[in-house]
Amino acid sequence: MKRNNSISGNKHLQYHITANHGLINDPCGLIKFRGKYHVFYQWNQQGVTHDNKSWGHLISEDLLHWDDVGCALQPDQYYDKDGCYTGCAIEHDNIMYLFYTGNVKGKFKERITYQCLATSNDGINFEKKGPIIDIPLGYTGHIRDPKVWKGKDRWFMILGAQREDKTGTALIYDSIDLFNWNLSNELLEKEINFGYMWECPNLVKLNNKEVFIFSPQGIEAQGEQYNNEFQSGYLLGKMKDKHFIVDSYDFKELDCGFEFYAPQFFEDDKNRILYFGWMGYMLPEKEASFPTVKDGWLHMLTIPRTIELKNGQLIQKPIDEFKQLRNDKKTYRGLQEIVLEDFACELNIENIKESFQLIYRNEVVIEYDAHNYEFSITRTDWETKKRESRKCRLLNTCNTVQIFLEETSMEIFINKGEKVFSLRYITMCQNSIKYTYGNSDIITTVYKLGEGH
Ligand code: FRU
Repeated sequence: MKRNNSISGNKHLQYHITANHGLINDPCGLIKFRGKYHVFYQWNQQGVTHDNKSWGHLISEDLLHWDDVGCALQPDQYYDKDGCYTGCAIEHDNIMYLFYTGNVKGKFKERITYQCLATSNDGINFEKKGPIIDIPLGYTGHIRDPKVWKGKDRWFMILGAQREDKTGTALIYDSIDLFNWNLSNELLEKEINFGYMWECPNLVKLNNKEVFIFSPQGIEAQGEQYNNEFQSGYLLGKMKDKHFIVDSYDFKELDCGFEFYAPQFFEDDKNRILYFGWMGYMLPEKEASFPTVKDGWLHMLTIPRTIELKNGQLIQKPIDEFKQLRNDKKTYRGLQEIVLEDFACELNIENIKESFQLIYRNEVVIEYDAHNYEFSITRTDWETKKRESRKCRLLNTCNTVQIFLEETSMEIFINKGEKVFSLRYITMCQNSIKYTYGNSDIITTVYKLGEGH
C-alpha cells in the first residue's frame, strides 16, 4: 500500500494500511463513494495506547494507492469525548452518512455510550449531528459499532451489545429517515449463550444466504478453535422479518492466525463483498512489548480481501488488484533456501504433493501435515519468548499457499482462500525461506513488490 502524501511510507509495512504514528485498530466506515474507496480506521494520534480514538481517513481509486486526508472525526463533544468508536458509512441522496459510537466515561468511571451520526457532502469534511440512540433498557453501556444497510422500505442498523446479565448479543433497529431509530429486537431469533460481549457486527448477503459476522468476547478455546483472546467469525442463516434465523450455531472463525479482529465488510460497485480486518488484538502486556511501540506506532489493517460462499464456508481471497503489485517474478523448483531480496514480497507455493515444512527467517515455521490435512504456523511470542502455534484442518489436501510477507507481518492464503492465517512476528535473522522437508518438485514463485509501491 502506498500513501500519496503526508504520513506516508511506513517502510516496514508496504502492503498494509497503518499509521506512521500512534495506534490504529478497527477499520470503519468502509464505502465506495462517488467512485472512490474510503477507509477510515480507529486511530489514537497521541500515543500507542487505546485512548483518544478518532477516525483516520484514507481515500483511494484502486485500493492500492491511498491519499491520506487526515482525521474525519475527533473526540471533541460531550457525547464522544472519550472516543469516536467504530461505525460504518452509507450513501443516501449523494450524502455520506457516518454512524459511530460516542464513548463517554461518566463521573464514576461508568461507561456511557451514544450512537452518533455525522454527514458529509464531499466525503472529506464531516458535520456531527449528535446522538441518535441512547442505551436501551436491559443492556449495559457496552453497546456499540453500528452497521447500517438499506432494506426495501426502511434502513436497518445492527449494534453489538451486552445484556444486563453480562451476556453478549446484537440488537437490530430500523429507521425511515436515518435520524430516528426504533429498537426492534435482538438480532438472533433464539438467545445463545456465547461470550460476554459481541463487537463489530456485520450482515452480508451472499448467494441466497445471509452471513452474520461478529467479534464475540469471552469464548473458551476448543481444540484448535478460538485460541486467541477474542475471535471474529460467522454464522450462516437467513433474515426473516427482523430476525436472523441461523442454519446452525457453528461459529466459524474467519482467520486461523494470531492477530486478526474486528473485520468490516462492504459491497462495492463491482458487486464484490470486500473487507479489511484489524491485525490485530493483542493482550495488553504483549501489545506494550511490541517493538514498534518504541518507534511510536502500532498495528495495521489486513490487506483488502473478497469473500465468497462455497459449500457453507467463506472463501477469502486477496483482491485481484493486488496482482498489479507483482514485479520481477522468480521461480524456484525443489527444496532449498531462497534468500529474499526485499522484506515485502509475495510468495506462491504450488505443486505441493506431500507434507512440507518451511522456515521463514529462522523464526516462523509453516507446516503442512498431509496425513491429517493439518496446516500450522509457529512463532516466538515476543513477550514471553516462548514458541506458540495455531493450527487448522483443511477440507481438501493443500494444493497452493500464497503468502504476503513484510518485515513484521504475514498473511497466508491456503487453497485460494479456503483458510487464512494473519500474524505479526519479530526477528532479526537473515531474510530467507528454507524448506526442511517436502516433495522435491515443489514450486515457489517470488514476486517483488512493484516499483512505486
Ligand atoms: C473492537 C473495538 C470496538 C470499539 C473499538 C474502539 O476492537 O473494541 O468494539 O468500537 O474497538 O476502538
